[in-house]
Formats: sequence, C-alpha cells, structure tokens
Amino acid sequence: MIQVEGLTKYYGPVPAIMDVSFHIKKGEIVAFLGPNGAGKTTTMRILTGFMPATVGTAGVAGIDVYENSIEARRHIGYMPETTRLYTDMRVRQYLHFCGKLHGMRRAELAERADEVMETCGLTERRDSIVGTLSLGFRQRVGLAQALIHNPDVLILDEPTVGLDPNQIMEVRELIKGLAGQHTVLLSTHILPEAQMTCERVMIINHGKIIAEDTPENLTSQIRESETILVRVKSDDPSVARGFESIPEVSGVRNASDHHGQGFFIDTKLGTDVRAEIAEFVVKEGWGLLELRPVEMSLEDVFLQLTTEEKGVA
Ligand SMILES: Nc1ncnc2c1ncn2[C@@H]1O[C@H](COP(=O)(O)OP(=O)(O)O)[C@@H](O)[C@H]1O
Ligand SMILES: [Mg+2]
Repeated sequence: MIQVEGLTKYYGPVPAIMDVSFHIKKGEIVAFLGPNGAGKTTTMRILTGFMPATVGTAGVAGIDVYENSIEARRHIGYMPETTRLYTDMRVRQYLHFCGKLHGMRRAELAERADEVMETCGLTERRDSIVGTLSLGFRQRVGLAQALIHNPDVLILDEPTVGLDPNQIMEVRELIKGLAGQHTVLLSTHILPEAQMTCERVMIINHGKIIAEDTPENLTSQIRESETILVRVKSDDPSVARGFESIPEVSGVRNASDHHGQGFFIDTKLGTDVRAEIAEFVVKEGWGLLELRPVEMSLEDVFLQLTTEEKGVA
C-alpha cells in the first residue's frame, strides 16, 4: 500500500534523509520511531506529496505521489506535525470544508462527517469553534480531518505531541482502533508509543533507517545475554561475589534501590539459571525477596542502536 524507494532529501549541503526505503502492506500499523531531527517529518512530507525528494520515489496505492499527487492524495489522510486548523470554524463546518476540498459531494459528506466525529469522539463538540477547544480535542479534529475522505492510508506525524497523559491514552486507543480499516504510518519519538500502538517499528536516526521489525523481534535480536533480577534481604557486601562464582554467570550488575540489595545477573543466551540462583541464595541464608527474568525493552534497543549505530535488520 505504501512503497518508498531510495528517498534522499537535501535542504542544504547535508542530507536530511539518505536512501530511505520501506514498504507497508495494506492494513498494517507501523511506527516511524526516531529522535528529533531524525528525518521523520521530511519523509512524511515527501510521502504525502507536499515536497519533492532530491532522489527516489514514493507511491501510495500504486500511484506516484509526486508525479500524480492529486490522485495519490485521494488515498492519503495526512495529519501534519503542526496541524494548521481553521480555528474560527465550527468542528462540523470545518470537516465539511475539508471534505469539499477533497471533492466530496454534500450528501455523502454530511453522513461521513457524522461518522468521523463519532469515531474521533467529537460528536458533542460538533458545534464548538475549533479555536476554543482544548489541545486534545484539536488533535482529534486534526485526525478527523485526515479521515474525512475515508483514505486507504493515514500518515500521522507525532499525533500525541503536546497532549496530557489522559489525552495521549485516548488518542493512542483511537489510532489503534483505526488499524485494519486503514493502513497507518505514525511517527513518534516516544518508545512506548511505538510499542503500544504498532505492529512493526522502523527506527530512523540521522536520516537513515537503522532497524525494522516487530517490537518483540527487535528486542530479541539485539539481546546478547539473558538477564535475571535478584533481590535479597541480606546487605552483606559479598553477595555479588557469590553470584559471580556460579559457573553459568557471565556478569553481575548492581540493581540496588530502596527495596534493598539487588542484582542484574547476566548469563549466556538460552540458559536459565533461576533454580541455581534460588538454591544458592537459600543455601547462603541471604533471604530471597525477588527473582525474575528481565525483558529488554525497546528503549534499550533504541539506545543501543542510536548510540552505537549497530544495525540489526
Ligand atoms: N525546511 C528545512 N530547511 C532546512 N533544514 C531542514 C528543514 N526541515 C528539516 N530540516 C532538517 O532536516 C533534518 C530532519 O528534520 P525532520 O524531518 O523535521 O526530523 P524529525 O521530524 O524526525 O524531527 C533536521 O536536521 C532538520 O534540521
Ligand atoms: Mg518531525
């Protein structure tokens, strides 16, 4: 549904994005994850036909977005990073206005606007002036605007930026609910957002895609060891050395906090030494408080990739 091939964009002498390629299948919901300045907005503006690439092509539903941008935009709903809404219009009026811009007919538009306001939780605000709405509601109007012509593809540029935690949860749920009916590409610099809302994540850094997979696969591919968290009641300083003496253990790191003395214990991939460790703690009389495997978070992966530029894809 979305095909991006070798996009490069120069604003000045330095490329903002470099040889970016990806494909997104119909109905997929994909996160474009990267720190500020990584090139997310640049890629999305090219993909929505608002700006030409220096090199490369982008297509939506088989239509080249630059060669044939009017036709392509019929298939695309775009929520830009900073939505410029017409703030003196009422919500319903604004959505009708947007629909007309897409060439929708009045009868079809009235019904679709009601449907979209319902989807985005705007029905009760249909007659509010857009400019008087809270940021959370304005963001919903931005989403409704992107949905009005029932596009196959939704391109959402940092849709939860500037919202409070409750609003963020609501907008994420809303976006999740759109998957299946629409193909969604969502940019974010927030890891949990990518992990929570999307089936696949593309990580972009310094204008290059450095990894691409499901959140689960990304975290398991980069993992080099198994890690177990152990907490003990004893504050004996020799505990760490005790763990190090277990043959399968490759490393012991401090994980102490206000809950007491704790350790991250690393072992070779594919080994499970929880039973040995439990036995050891009991034998030494240290008082076992907690023992559990530690999953690597997408955050760890992201940090590792963006600091070492180590590709896994
Ligand atoms: N209009 C512009 N003119 C010059 N440089 C730009 C322009 N827009 C973005 N850039 C630069 O391109 C790079 C990518 O920016 P952007 O695509 O906005 O990243 P992101 O959306 O991931 O934060 C950044 O280094 C940014 O400073
Ligand atoms: Mg951006």
